Amino acid sequence: MKKITIAIDGLSSCGKSTMAKDLAKEIGYVYVDTGAMYRAVTLHALRKGLFNADGTIRTAELEAEMPAISISFKFNSQTGRPDTYLNGELVEQEIRSLEVSSRVSPIATLPFVRKALVAQQQKMGEDKGIVMDGRDIGTVVFPYAELKVFVTASAEVRAQRRFDELKAKGMEADFDDILKNVQERDYIDSHRETSPLRKADDAIELDNSHLTIEQQNQWLLDRYREVATE
Ligand code: DC
Repeated sequence: MKKITIAIDGLSSCGKSTMAKDLAKEIGYVYVDTGAMYRAVTLHALRKGLFNADGTIRTAELEAEMPAISISFKFNSQTGRPDTYLNGELVEQEIRSLEVSSRVSPIATLPFVRKALVAQQQKMGEDKGIVMDGRDIGTVVFPYAELKVFVTASAEVRAQRRFDELKAKGMEADFDDILKNVQERDYIDSHRETSPLRKADDAIELDNSHLTIEQQNQWLLDRYREVATE
């Protein structure tokens, strides 16, 4: 099997992280959740008070802070998945809160944030053997990835999945709030000026609204085998 680069893009909460993580584990590749990186920058901005009361961002101050933001991943042998660290602190749980979720899209529209994170992501993928998920992986980060997948599912299905996930972790959750957040993020992610979410011309589309996790994992493993044995 040849070592390849796998780019998984799609709307928020469409299950792409689950399938990307499971595939990486199965085939021994590195997994990178780029959404976690945008979330970590958002958490840092919240902690530093870089959001104004009206929700706008103090961009000049955030830009000056960027060199002080270091994001890394460490494999958690208990969960079998990587955890996100912000300046050495484990923030995996905190970056998934509704507060961060509702602030992350505007942060991800900022060109200087994207530029810094894309450069880090490209460095992580230098040796191939990587599964990366996000919004612009097949279009911007790895335009030459051998396998590109674009995942979709209805907003209601995605909100229900996020609701179930938060409940399972014992976190507070309201379905209508989550649905609203999913729809708002869809809109911002697909309409922003810098690297909007769009399917790369050579990406394979997967609508997983009616697939189980096992079915989607098998589908992805089949696509990987097709490409890596070519
Ligand atoms: O996948 P997620 O929900 O954790 O992503 C969080 C936010 O970051 C979402 O609003 C889209 C943005 N994002 C992005 O703009 N580019 C990426 N490569 C990954 C995420």
